[in-house]
Amino acid sequence: MEVIQDLSSSGNDSLVFQVNGERFEVAEVDPSTTLLEFLRSRTRFKSVKLGCGEGGCGACVVLLSKYDPLLKQTDNITVSSCLTLLCSVNGCSITTSEGLGNSKDGFHPIHQRFAGFHASQCGFCTPGMCMSLFSTLVNSENSKLTVSEAEKSITGNLCRCTGYRPIADACKSFAADVDLEDLGINSFWKKGDTKEAKVGKLPAYNPKNHTCPYTEVPKDKNKSTSLLNSEKHSWFSPVTIEDLQSFLHYEMVENGKKIKLIVGNTGNGYYKETEKYDKYVDLRYIPELSMVRMDNSGIEFGATLSISKAIFHLKEQIKANLGSGGALVLEKLAKHMEKGASGFIRNSASLGGNLVMAQKKYFPSDIATLFLAVGCSVSILTGHTHEKITMEEFLGRPPMDSKSVLLSVHIPFLEPKIVDGLIQISSRLLFETYRAAPRPLGNALPYLNAAFLADISCNKNGVVINSVRLAFGAYGTKHATRARKVEEYLVGKILSVGVLNDAIKLVKGDVVSEDGTSHASYRSSLAVSFLFEFLNSFTSVGSSDLLNGSLVNGDNSSKGNWTLLSSAKQVVESSRDYYPVGEAMPKFGAAIQASGEAVYVDDIPSPQNCLYGAFIYSSKPLARVKGISVKSTEFTAIISAKDIPKEGENIGCMAMFGSEPLFPGDISRCAGDVLAFVVAETQKDANLAAKMAIVDYDTEGLDTPILTVEDAVEKSSFFDVPPYVCPAKVGDFSKGMDEADHKILSSEIKLGSQYYFYMETQTALAVPDEDNCMVVYSSSQNPEYTNRAIAKCLGFPEHNVRVITRRVGGGFGGKAFKSIHVATACALAAHKLGRPVRVYVDRKTDMIIVGGRHPMKITYTVGFKSTGKITALHLDILINAGITEDMSPVMPHCIIGAFKKYNWGALSFDVKVCKTNHSSKSAMRAPGDVQGSFIAEAIIEHVASFLSMEVDSVRSENFHTYESLKLFYEGSSGEAIEYTLSSIWDKVARTSSFVQRIASIKQFNNVNKWCKRGISRVPIVHQVSVRPTPGKVSILSDGSIVVEVGGIELGQGLWTKVKQATAYALSTIGCDGTEDLVEKVRVVQADTLSLVQGGLTGGSTTSESSCEAVRLCCNVLIERLTPLKEKLHKEMDSVKWDFLILQAYYQNVNLAANSYFVPESRSSQYLNYGAAVSEVEVNILTGETRILRTDIVYDCGQSMNPAVDLGQIEGAFVQGLGFFMLEEYLSNSDGLVVSDSTWTYKIPTIDTIPKQFNVEILNSGNHHKRVLSSKASGEPPLLLAASVHCATRAAIKEARKQLKSWGAIEGTDSTFQLEVPATMPIVKQLCGLDNVEMYLKSLVSQS
Ligand SMILES: Cc1cc2nc3c(=O)[nH]c(=O)nc-3n(C[C@H](O)[C@H](O)[C@H](O)COP(=O)(O)OP(=O)(O)OC[C@H]3O[C@@H](n4cnc5c(N)ncnc54)[C@H](O)[C@@H]3O)c2cc1C
Ligand code: FES
Ligand code: FES
Repeated sequence: MEVIQDLSSSGNDSLVFQVNGERFEVAEVDPSTTLLEFLRSRTRFKSVKLGCGEGGCGACVVLLSKYDPLLKQTDNITVSSCLTLLCSVNGCSITTSEGLGNSKDGFHPIHQRFAGFHASQCGFCTPGMCMSLFSTLVNSENSKLTVSEAEKSITGNLCRCTGYRPIADACKSFAADVDLEDLGINSFWKKGDTKEAKVGKLPAYNPKNHTCPYTEVPKDKNKSTSLLNSEKHSWFSPVTIEDLQSFLHYEMVENGKKIKLIVGNTGNGYYKETEKYDKYVDLRYIPELSMVRMDNSGIEFGATLSISKAIFHLKEQIKANLGSGGALVLEKLAKHMEKGASGFIRNSASLGGNLVMAQKKYFPSDIATLFLAVGCSVSILTGHTHEKITMEEFLGRPPMDSKSVLLSVHIPFLEPKIVDGLIQISSRLLFETYRAAPRPLGNALPYLNAAFLADISCNKNGVVINSVRLAFGAYGTKHATRARKVEEYLVGKILSVGVLNDAIKLVKGDVVSEDGTSHASYRSSLAVSFLFEFLNSFTSVGSSDLLNGSLVNGDNSSKGNWTLLSSAKQVVESSRDYYPVGEAMPKFGAAIQASGEAVYVDDIPSPQNCLYGAFIYSSKPLARVKGISVKSTEFTAIISAKDIPKEGENIGCMAMFGSEPLFPGDISRCAGDVLAFVVAETQKDANLAAKMAIVDYDTEGLDTPILTVEDAVEKSSFFDVPPYVCPAKVGDFSKGMDEADHKILSSEIKLGSQYYFYMETQTALAVPDEDNCMVVYSSSQNPEYTNRAIAKCLGFPEHNVRVITRRVGGGFGGKAFKSIHVATACALAAHKLGRPVRVYVDRKTDMIIVGGRHPMKITYTVGFKSTGKITALHLDILINAGITEDMSPVMPHCIIGAFKKYNWGALSFDVKVCKTNHSSKSAMRAPGDVQGSFIAEAIIEHVASFLSMEVDSVRSENFHTYESLKLFYEGSSGEAIEYTLSSIWDKVARTSSFVQRIASIKQFNNVNKWCKRGISRVPIVHQVSVRPTPGKVSILSDGSIVVEVGGIELGQGLWTKVKQATAYALSTIGCDGTEDLVEKVRVVQADTLSLVQGGLTGGSTTSESSCEAVRLCCNVLIERLTPLKEKLHKEMDSVKWDFLILQAYYQNVNLAANSYFVPESRSSQYLNYGAAVSEVEVNILTGETRILRTDIVYDCGQSMNPAVDLGQIEGAFVQGLGFFMLEEYLSNSDGLVVSDSTWTYKIPTIDTIPKQFNVEILNSGNHHKRVLSSKASGEPPLLLAASVHCATRAAIKEARKQLKSWGAIEGTDSTFQLEVPATMPIVKQLCGLDNVEMYLKSLVSQS
């Protein structure tokens, strides 16, 4: 039984709360301090992670228990601790993931199931995920969680590693209505287990035992409180309006103080205010502001009521008013409100805060649009003046002044129109709301939202519109507006095609985005689509068939019914040849990742005297930096090139082809170039100082910057590609072209960039050590190169630097080289100041400075036969590499490697690596390969369109034979038996019922106007190289084993495979008691002085080479142990492992062995194969693409750990999905990244992955030249996501065909470029921004 703390304050004005049962009393704190800052810097609870600091990722989610005086109950809600202010948790109890359970007291079943369902890879998102699920679980009605609630619980949590499917399974396993058959691969069940056995084997969850122990909080609070009352800081919580009035009057009017009104503080996630306030006023304790009042006229909500609570009360009201027109309105309001933000934001975000943000700061609010449509009113208090005004007046007024307080909002109960005291016979209220957003449920602001209310009746002539209110918002306007002209036009009209047509013309005049709004014409087309859909729905009212049948097929309107992941299947075949290699073991450390105990770099407690750094970067592409001034006074030093010691060099990174400077010198080379490193006493002060830095630029006498690849060509600005990484051409291009029946000349493709979005941003901690040494903890995929760079920069011998990396919270290539600058900057500052220095780069800076994937421009010329067989192809590729080389010279090799997946006949190319004034691009998961593979598909699609052939048959036509494979891939093609692509190709067609589904899609498209489906099957060939890697295995006296490897654990399961390989290799000694040897193995952190030549973790092969390195060590150990073992065997029947080791220990056998695995050059490169079939549905009214199903077959050789490989396949696929469909990494005209937050950069969430997601890992048997017969899985499956893009193109083709049938001329060609990513605006544009107008026109011309 937990002891509940007394949460009353000992002093008058200190704040008191508990965290995981520990009482905290704080007397002095800056009121702008967030709960996350406090937890991470002043408690031992580090499970709350900082992923974004703006409410957009869920890594920081905690459970907040607080008393609700209105409902007289304790609320247990999730909140984002990065936005919740510490003072607002006074009297509350906070539970973090380690509070639910931990390695000492036992893990919570949520932790255990996350581990067992393989739902944690890098683990950085996992504690937040667990808390989101936990709160849904404890709040589910009668403790009966449903599958849908379980999945929805994590819609606002981002994970960049897993692809969400296993997380969904872990969540669903707690649902009362779960079908166990639907749950995927896990470590609990064995094949053939009965349902009962399965239930029995899941870690038991008992709502009684596993409720949160820390939820007891003090009840009523009816005294105004002041916290932290000092000259510097104060936080006031009034409990009456009078208190509030007199406080505001006294402090603001009389004393001229700057006051900040606070409710949930979530607004700061968007505005990121850095202004300092004298006093903070928490409005939540004034009963009038949190009340819910109901009468005949409607519901009144106090302004501080949270959005979640408002939804709850709306739903309660719906239950009470079943069937009435008003209830319909309330239901739709609640449903729409559930799509805004995420659960943990809605729980603390207030209605009032939202409306004030919409009114004062023009926030693109959903709620303002909804309330405008239903005719709400608001009450405002200014000084002593109370006002009640309509929502329209409220929004239309000049911004509220800081003395005004929004008190409440009134939602009227709406009923159909009453004429002469009687309800009209056929009068009906219709209300509908709309929202088009990149992620339907997963926390994304809409391109446009709308809410429409109409009162209609039927007479003999048709549907009459008695009244109508049409509200539109978030479309690039200051606030939500009503489409007045359309409303006026429609009133009294009988609905007809002509009326619809006129209304749609008018709405385009009413809904106009302000200048500079992105996708303005798309937003305008959405207004048309939604209005069309709404008005058209009237035709289903009443009996008359008004418009010759329904315009919109009811089942596929733009609203859709969102189901999340509906099913998934995983087929894996374990091989026991090298047991325990081949077993689907849970990832090592998954449970401590879930509980949040796993230690990442920023979780290491700060050493005494520690300072914190932040980067000052350039916003100009090419400019002389005349000076940098920092307005803030709260910083210690600004470190720049001049601080590099005399013995050192200006080196920030050792990249693949040489070193790169830490600071650019006098001239900024690109926007995002790091100019200096400002150091302060706290991370917050350092960030603020960097933000407030003013850089004085001068461009006089400088060249114009090179901002495009075309500029680079003009100025011959290229990086050299060394001959040994140049890809080889194939055949004779001219001859191939001569053989062609048709030619496509100089067609173009452009591809953009992609940001890593690792959940843990770049981070390092540098600690000066004795004798001029430096210890650096770095979140890096490359500690060895980090060590070298730091030594060079400081002018130290390499052995004076020690770089330690335990685990990395996601890397995806972004921590291969880009992490090195970060660690070096810390080391330099630490060296200069003689104090430890650390940095945790904020998300915006990270997004601006790290570069990301290479954008490129491709021009191709292709010749082909009438059969679709391609005879010759030439590519010109211009790669935008940015300002430094990094790994860019190997990009041509990667692009062409994956491109060669088809037999192009003859292949020639010219690939240029352009040096531009953009941030330097680096390796991002499958760098070049994903572009190469995609370019191949785009060309195949083009050829198919040209010939009017099925794309799939053109693909098959150009498949490699083993002979042509050898020609294209030379040394890496392997043996004929290893070329499994043809069988994979057939297999995926069979398992996905490809042929049958093509037929049913055809049928679907024939009968559905506004949704079109497409399906596509895509193959991949991905070449990888195995690199040398060291290993070290040591056996301790008790038989436990410690392993070090060059590879870094990034979440990819490297440690788990290494443990399995060690156990396998040592078990070959043939002792008893080695079955569970794997439990005795611990892999420890990388330490550059303990294991040298660690190299880079990347390229998908570090796991296997690390396994091979430990196997070599184990072989040496076995050789040393065997004589003793044989001797003992003669003396006793059974020689146990522990006994053997103890004896060896006493007999001074050397129990540690080192190795350096160097692959044979002939087999160091090999090919990976896979294929995917994806089916999508495109809503051609909005451009939204849903992935209905994906089937993958992927050849892993003999998978070392099918669970780990499956995680890599699914995770890579979903990351690829982001690249192809969602993630726009945009820059301004100077090259400065503008997609710099979770608001503007949308990675996939659980609602955007395939609804049905089936993956089969092909066990392709023995590969003698591969490590334990295994093959890579980390990067190649990312390429398979092109299948979704291709399927989308197929669906768009159908839409364009239909558009043509409606009489359109433009935009109907079957040949078109579909950009990457194929976002909603792009898809809609290709389907016809005016498709509704064209359709209506065709109807008018028919009638
Ligand atoms: C990640 C994220 C996603 C979001 N997504 C959506 C979305 O999809 N759709 C949408 O509509 N909204 C969205 N929002 C906005 C969210 O609804 C608002 O941030 C929230 O409602 C503000 O409430 P709050 O209590 O946190 O306000 P606070 O942040 O405490 O206050 C916001 C502002 O209003 C002032 N203020 C607050 N209450 C009053 C009052 N009663 N009188 C006078 N001034 C007051 C404050 O001084 C401050 O300036 C999102 C927010 C986040 C963080
Ligand atoms: S860190 Fe709080 S939501 Fe991302
Ligand atoms: S496991 Fe989810 S972000 Fe890495």
